[in-house]
Amino acid sequence: MELQINGATYPVESDGDTPLLWVIRDELGLTGTKYGCGIAQCGACSVLVDGEAMRSCVTPVEAVVGRRITTIEGIEDDPVGRRVVAAWLAHQVPQCGYCQSGQVMAATSLLKQMPHPDDAQIAASMTNLCRCGTYNAISAAVHDLAGGGPSAAAEKVRAAAAARNAGAQS
Ligand code: FES
Ligand code: FES
Repeated sequence: MELQINGATYPVESDGDTPLLWVIRDELGLTGTKYGCGIAQCGACSVLVDGEAMRSCVTPVEAVVGRRITTIEGIEDDPVGRRVVAAWLAHQVPQCGYCQSGQVMAATSLLKQMPHPDDAQIAASMTNLCRCGTYNAISAAVHDLAGGGPSAAAEKVRAAAAARNAGAQS
């Protein structure tokens, strides 16, 4: 079978009932998506499938054939995802970072469905767990985004960080 991930086509040899998370990480080497609980509770493994957050640890790979998958490696190619990353940087959200790819996916999914969510809608959607307790910073970043942010200054921070990362990898 083949998967469409971050705009590219990946041949996949895993059995159809293999969880998508294992295929993404172990077969395809896209390790930005994390394993937390394996039972759909923590959200660390979240990816976007056709723009909506899905917990890949409990999603059989055969269920997403022909659908558009986005992982954290491709999130900045998405205009909403790029804004979320900028807000995350501006609010200095991550601590250890382990849960953050899933948190970014949850926020991107929410803002794609609802550009200006209210407090209740944010609370209902941002249910991923964070053992470092970054909930206040996540809340501030999502409220910034819900109000139309982040600012141009935050976007500059994001672009500078992306340039530094590109330099470090070359
Ligand atoms: S690893 Fe999938 S929800 Fe926790
Ligand atoms: S930042 Fe460490 S688990 Fe969330």
